[in-house]
Amino acid sequence: PTGSLRDQFARPLHDLRISITDRCNFRCVYCMPKEVFDKDYQYLPHNALLTFEEITRIARLFVEHGVEKIRLTGGEPLLRKDLERLVGMLAELRTVHGKPLDLTLTTNGSLLARKAQSLKDAGLQRVTVSLDALDDAIFKRMNDVDFAVADVLHGIDVAHKVGLGPVKVNMVVKRGMNEQEILPMARHFKDSPAILRFIEFMDVGSSNGWNMHDVIPSAEVVRMIGAEMPLVPVDPNYTGETAERWRYADGGGEIGVISSVTHAFCKDCSRARLSTEGKLYTCLFATRGHDLRALLREGRSDAEISSAIGALWRVRGDRYSELRTINTEGLAQGRDGKVEMSYIGG
Ligand code: GTP
Ligand code: 5AD
Ligand code: SF4
Ligand code: SF4
Repeated sequence: PTGSLRDQFARPLHDLRISITDRCNFRCVYCMPKEVFDKDYQYLPHNALLTFEEITRIARLFVEHGVEKIRLTGGEPLLRKDLERLVGMLAELRTVHGKPLDLTLTTNGSLLARKAQSLKDAGLQRVTVSLDALDDAIFKRMNDVDFAVADVLHGIDVAHKVGLGPVKVNMVVKRGMNEQEILPMARHFKDSPAILRFIEFMDVGSSNGWNMHDVIPSAEVVRMIGAEMPLVPVDPNYTGETAERWRYADGGGEIGVISSVTHAFCKDCSRARLSTEGKLYTCLFATRGHDLRALLREGRSDAEISSAIGALWRVRGDRYSELRTINTEGLAQGRDGKVEMSYIGG
């Protein structure tokens, strides 16, 4: 296996996103609403989680199939104990071309200031930080645990200082919640090393009460920002990139928009997802995963697990966002049972 693997739409397998915990210290209203994720919510028991050795073994098999980029997600990945040890193990893997992996992580930033240096030392290359508002009242309403903006901004600064930049900042835009923060966020991160990206509120999972009306189309975001600070389109960094890039005409850096609802990017989607308990999902919106943990714990060989991964990728025909664009309300409503984002990872 040397990266020649293709799915039903000839898409290669390039990118593996690994959720390392289903827990989070935030309760973002669009992701882990308090009504659902309350004190009685049953998180996975410890022995259900893949161990670091199991994660690394699976990751290595994916890398042998051509994966060049690994992103750790959650839940909140910095909550996983000893995370640095896992980062160190993954940092040793080499792509089929003999290069180090693009090894990165998506975090809510709450523990970042404390952990940035040790993660960098362990071999992490960069981080993406979620931040939905600059205004404390709005941010607290969104994270629903009273977490302050300043602490996340401090985390971003420390990440830059230790060399985990340029940090990408993800802002989920939800109508009626934080659209008034689009311009303040753009102004704040313009002329800074961070790259701000606006994400359309998506219908992931089944508990966030998604509704098309709450989606602010990226085109509107670009228009709004461009009217004050002129923007010029930029070519993608790589095929299958989620974000469309725009740069400030005056040289003040760039922004991105991730338009999974109004402009689906399934055509070149090369992402596989490994859930916290070791299920492989070939789409963020899948209703079913494939149990790789069972293969590991049954004592199957690398060759057997590797060929199972190859077989699953070859039959992959997922293009949920494209289908949703064709039939927005119908599909979103007809798909109960979609897994939650905190379980499968962003
Ligand atoms: P980089 O460009 O390397 O920073 O990675 P990325 O674009 O994958 O960024 P990131 O992991 O931060 O993803 C940003 C957001 O885009 C995620 O949190 C999701 O909301 C969304 N996203 C990422 N991948 C997919 C995907 O395959 N499908 C859909 N529908 N949304 C996705
Ligand atoms: N729609 C869009 N983005 C979401 N995220 C979580 N839930 C949603 C949703 N429903 C984002 C988070 C974070 C990343 C992991 O995914 O804000 O940036
Ligand atoms: Fe936690 Fe991220 Fe979900 Fe917010 S979006 S609840 S920070 S996993
Ligand atoms: Fe990939 Fe599924 Fe997202 Fe489309 S909806 S881009 S196939 S993960």
